[in-house]
This record gives sequence, structure tokens and C-alpha cells, in this order.
Amino acid sequence: MTAKIISGREVAEHILEKELSVKVKELKEKNIVPNLVVILVGEMKASASYVAQKEKFAAKAGIKSEVRRFTAEISEEEILSEIDKINNDSLIHGVIVQLPLPDHISVAKVLNRIHPSKDVDGFTPNNVGKLFLGEDTLVSCTPKGIMQMLRISGTDLSGKNVTVIGRSNIVGKPVSILCQSQNATVTMCHSRTKDLNHKLSDADVIIVAVGVPKFISGDQIPEGAVVIDVGIHRVKSNKTKSGYKLVGDVNFDDVESKVSYITPVPGGVGPMTIASLLRNTLFSAKKIIYSHT
Ligand code: GUN
Repeated sequence: MTAKIISGREVAEHILEKELSVKVKELKEKNIVPNLVVILVGEMKASASYVAQKEKFAAKAGIKSEVRRFTAEISEEEILSEIDKINNDSLIHGVIVQLPLPDHISVAKVLNRIHPSKDVDGFTPNNVGKLFLGEDTLVSCTPKGIMQMLRISGTDLSGKNVTVIGRSNIVGKPVSILCQSQNATVTMCHSRTKDLNHKLSDADVIIVAVGVPKFISGDQIPEGAVVIDVGIHRVKSNKTKSGYKLVGDVNFDDVESKVSYITPVPGGVGPMTIASLLRNTLFSAKKIIYSHT
């Protein structure tokens, strides 16, 4: 079987150019500039790089973005008061706090402080609850991007077996809800799962978000499955000039010949996450505007 690559990079480019840019332009004609604020705490290289990507994509779509940077020593109270300011600023339509945060800051407290209407990451209890109940809301970006990639591959989830590996609040749990809402039968796996291979053996779709480089190999994948790889890791390589390369949670070279569709790393889920963030920002901007008309 020759795998088809679902290029998140190409789909995201298409969304930026053909959908978001057009809609942003329409809003700008009404003197409304969709505006996203990113809070970045500390000096983590990976976070800085993700945030830079978000800024770049936002600029391409014509969405205003601003990064508010703070040192790792900032107190929880200071972050909370920054969020209050943003919540009260009617010219800001979306805010995200780049995770992870330093240990002395409670992620739950910080996320809970964001006004649900500006929560373009879809991480607040209010939005997560609405997702759980199947209500229209701001849906977290990686799961939203994954669902779009599945749609593009032509995968109809109804009655299909989906195995999700990883139970995080930002990927595993919400994507399992979204798949169930499309009538899939979802199996959740994690670090304590016994006999993972058995759980994968009848999977039509496998979503891997464990955070371990090349965790899944070809012999674990049923022939013809659709594989979504959420991981991204910088590992040493003697084949590149830099001495490093990016790999996912799936051993791509080993798995590729067995699957019907697969997302690459880099250029798969990552760009779709950002496209979804910008879609959410636009959704938020429009909602705020219509609530005033
Ligand atoms: N850190 C890793 N992924 C994400 C994400 O989707 N949003 C935020 N805010 N932080 C992250």
C-alpha cells in the first residue's frame, strides 16, 4: 500500500490564503481588525519557536497579533492581572497563554481566568464543558486541526474504530470527544495501558499524542489505517547539516508502507493547529462584533 501524505502545511496555507485572508479583509472593511494576544512566559526555546510560527501565520492571514513576554520569575498574580486587562480590552478578540508555564504558576488558575469568549485555545472549563455537551464553541486547536485533516483524507468516522494514544487535556481528551460526536468508537490508551498492540489491532484511525519520539512502529499498525501523528521532537541526526532533525511520535519510515493516510512531521498537525487558532480568533472577533450589533 502506498500511503498518502496529508500535508498540514499545504492545507493550512490554503486556509490562510483562500479562507482567512478573505474573511479578515471583509471585517477590515467594517473597520474591525481581528486581534490575538499571546502570553509567553520564560525562555523555553520550543515555546518561543511555536509562538514565532503563530505570529508569522497570523500576519499572513492579516490578523493582528501581539506577544506579551514575561520572565519566568513573574508571579501568578501578575499573570492573572494581565489576563484581566486583556479580558477588559474590547479591541482584543483572542488570548492564549503559551504552555507550559513555570511550576510556581497554576495552569488551571490561569486558564480559568481567561474569558471564555476570548479563549481561542479552547482550554477554559466553560469551553471544554460545551465541547463535552456537543454545543457550538471554541474548540481546542490541535483536535480541531486533526478533525479537518481526517475530513480532507475522506475518512468518514461513523462506525469506525479510533484509537487515541495519550490522554492530555489539550489533545487526547478533546479529540476523543470530537471523534465520538462523529459516531466513532473510541479507545483511549495511555502510559498504563496494558497490551497496546491489541488496542491498535482493529483500529481504523490511530491518533498518537504521547510525546515520545518514534513511539509507534510499523508492526503495531493494521494495514490501511489512517495515522495522525501529533508529536514533534528534535533529535540528533548524522544525516543533516545541523546535526538534528524533527521526528514525530510515529516512526514514519517504518509505518508509511502500511497505512492509507499519514500526517508527516514536520508539516502535518503543527500548521493545522495554528490555522485552527486563527480560525478561532476570527470566530471570536465576529461573535464579539455581532453581540454589539
Ligand atoms: N503548548 C503546546 N501546545 C499548545 C497549544 O496548543 N496552546 C498553548 N497555549 N500552548 C501549547
